[in-house]
Amino acid sequence: MEIIKDIARLRERIREVKKKGLSIGFVPTMGYLHEGHLSLMKTAKKENDFMAISIFVNPLQFGAGEDFEEYPRDLARDEMLARSTGCDLIFSPSVKEMYPTGYGTFVEVKKLTEGLCGASRPGHFLGVTTVVTKLFNLLRPDRVYFGQKDAQQAFVLKKMVNDLNMDLEFIVLPTFREDDGLAMSSRNKYLTPEQRKEAAVLYKSLKQARKLAVEGERNVEVIKKVISDIISEAGHAQIEYIEIVDTQNLRSLHMLKGECLIALAVKFGQTRLIDNIILEV
Ligand code: PAJ
Repeated sequence: MEIIKDIARLRERIREVKKKGLSIGFVPTMGYLHEGHLSLMKTAKKENDFMAISIFVNPLQFGAGEDFEEYPRDLARDEMLARSTGCDLIFSPSVKEMYPTGYGTFVEVKKLTEGLCGASRPGHFLGVTTVVTKLFNLLRPDRVYFGQKDAQQAFVLKKMVNDLNMDLEFIVLPTFREDDGLAMSSRNKYLTPEQRKEAAVLYKSLKQARKLAVEGERNVEVIKKVISDIISEAGHAQIEYIEIVDTQNLRSLHMLKGECLIALAVKFGQTRLIDNIILEV
């Protein structure tokens, strides 16, 4: 496994891989790897000849007052975990390498980025689509792997790939969870033991929503109220949003119909957690 920090060397290495006719599977990450990341990497390894990841905490997708500085970083640990999945290459550039002085080009997906996390994190998805485009141009992957954990991100990037005719296969894999249902996230590390215990209400509330839908409930307000009541059992939880949207356009629904995304963002202290499920009714 090779760790590459500079773009010139990366390009050289990717050119060699392509010349050999090997397929490239790519998993972009911000590091501090956990089982969720590793599940994407293991699938990418299985489905491709060459598996690469990026580890880059992208300042462009963090707003003012967000946790860019504090975001957990541990490259030595990530290296060890990546090695265990058979990873062939880690691209881990500096901010300066990705955004040199004078940098001025941005990629923007309209509409899908307006609601959900886009509403509370202005500019976030512009940062994500820009960095992911750069990474795709650098790694030139045949297949890319993303988690359903960040459902809106996956929808937005899929739209970008489609709209910009990027020649790659876009694969979304299920959310990897802790035993109590909490979705794995690098940010779970910020939780106090008490908040960590309470955070299990997020998935509990989503499972209850699914149960109601299976039993025939279609009224979105009723389902949202049940989710909100369950989350409010946790003393430290502050709900940012609970939304039920159509997966076609991420617009709010009044009644469940077709493929629906139930997504939520909840703060425990300063730590903002997201989770979601997709239902077909
Ligand atoms: P990061 O949060 O590190 O996540 C990297 C990838 O891992 C994303 O596709 C995310 O959806 C996936 N992932 C995270 N937690 C997961 C879980 N519990 N189960 C399954 N997959 C999970 O998402 C980003 O980084 C950045 O926005 C990035 C795309 C790298 C652009 O900077």
